[in-house]
Amino acid sequence: MYEPAAPLPEDAYAQLTPDLRMCRLLNGMWQVSGAHGPIDPVAAVSSMVAHLDAGFTTWDLADHYGPAEDFVGEFRRRVAATRGATALDGLLAFTKWVPRPGPMTRQVVETAIEVSRRRMGVAAIDLLQFHWWDYGDERYLDALGHLAELQGARLIRHLALTNFDTAHVEAILAHGIAVASNQVQYSLVDLRPDVRMAPFCHASGVGLLAYGTLCGGLLSDRYFGRPEPSWAELNTASLHKYKQMIDAWGGWPLFQELLTVLSGVADRHGVSIANVAVRAILDRPAVAGVIVGVRLGAAEHLADNARVFGVGLDDDDHHRIQAVVSKGRDLYQLIGDCGDEYRR
Ligand SMILES: NC(=O)c1ccc[n+]([C@@H]2O[C@H](COP(=O)([O-])OP(=O)(O)OC[C@H]3O[C@@H](n4cnc5c(N)ncnc54)[C@H](OP(=O)(O)O)[C@@H]3O)[C@@H](O)[C@H]2O)c1
Repeated sequence: MYEPAAPLPEDAYAQLTPDLRMCRLLNGMWQVSGAHGPIDPVAAVSSMVAHLDAGFTTWDLADHYGPAEDFVGEFRRRVAATRGATALDGLLAFTKWVPRPGPMTRQVVETAIEVSRRRMGVAAIDLLQFHWWDYGDERYLDALGHLAELQGARLIRHLALTNFDTAHVEAILAHGIAVASNQVQYSLVDLRPDVRMAPFCHASGVGLLAYGTLCGGLLSDRYFGRPEPSWAELNTASLHKYKQMIDAWGGWPLFQELLTVLSGVADRHGVSIANVAVRAILDRPAVAGVIVGVRLGAAEHLADNARVFGVGLDDDDHHRIQAVVSKGRDLYQLIGDCGDEYRR
């Protein structure tokens, strides 16, 4: 019988809810959507097994990330067939539902959840993260009401949100809808959640799942000391997205200053810039986990990312990092609260 390895330390895991023990570094699957280069499905599923074996048990995906939900289904079938159904026990897949604007009837909601359940091969979705495009259209409350009923029917284990701003998370909770988490952009370049979202979520028991923490890979040793890349050199949707964020924040010279400081901190701890960038967000009180994108079967950073759990940043590290990030523009003033970039 398969005995799961436990290669990551105990502090790599946390309870998002009493029954969801997640890895605090989640594997992000936007990278298999097709917008980040070609992905070979066979190699991708093998890489998912390698992630599981390395202790990275938790996946973040969405209904619209190309074949991501199908990969989860295939991965689960392969693990169950080769190791027995109990090997699936610690594995979590957090998907999203990102509906087009329109009527949110029980039928519409139920059909969407049914499709995701079937694709992933699960009786109940571990965490269903809901996105909504237009706050002017209050049918998001209808959708959430139906989702809560489906949770009651055990088709969804927990409800969550993605890219909701603080005011609307507050309104949803006030409506009596319990959400385990909100997924937002959170990095040393984009610290907007520090302003309102993180204090509110920390006080309300809502976990934050951070994305964009590595700025698509720009916040890493690979770009330290490099001249500003052209748009054409940046070969994934993720790199394009976060290069724009860096430009809004302060531009390439200031970004290099940030990488210089992070490199100094990383050297002190004998780790990578990426490790420091993730640790600095993971240490923030409301943050339940950081999602790091994985181009499954095409690129791999398992060994390096495992080192995140051995890093302990001290006050001096935090002060040095804060001194450089505070030279950037205030993105909360410039863009607005979390997720506002999706609603302009
Ligand atoms: N809710 C939303 O609206 C939303 C939006 C965006 C993302 N997300 C979620 O967040 C996930 C993360 O994606 P992201 O786009 O934000 O990208 P990201 O995690 O900031 O960057 C991912 C890239 O970083 C590089 N990388 C990873 N570990 C590294 C390491 N140790 N050293 C150096 N480079 C490393 C890899 O680049 P290479 O592959 O080139 O090596 C990887 O593709 C997505 O997959 C998705 O699940 C959600």
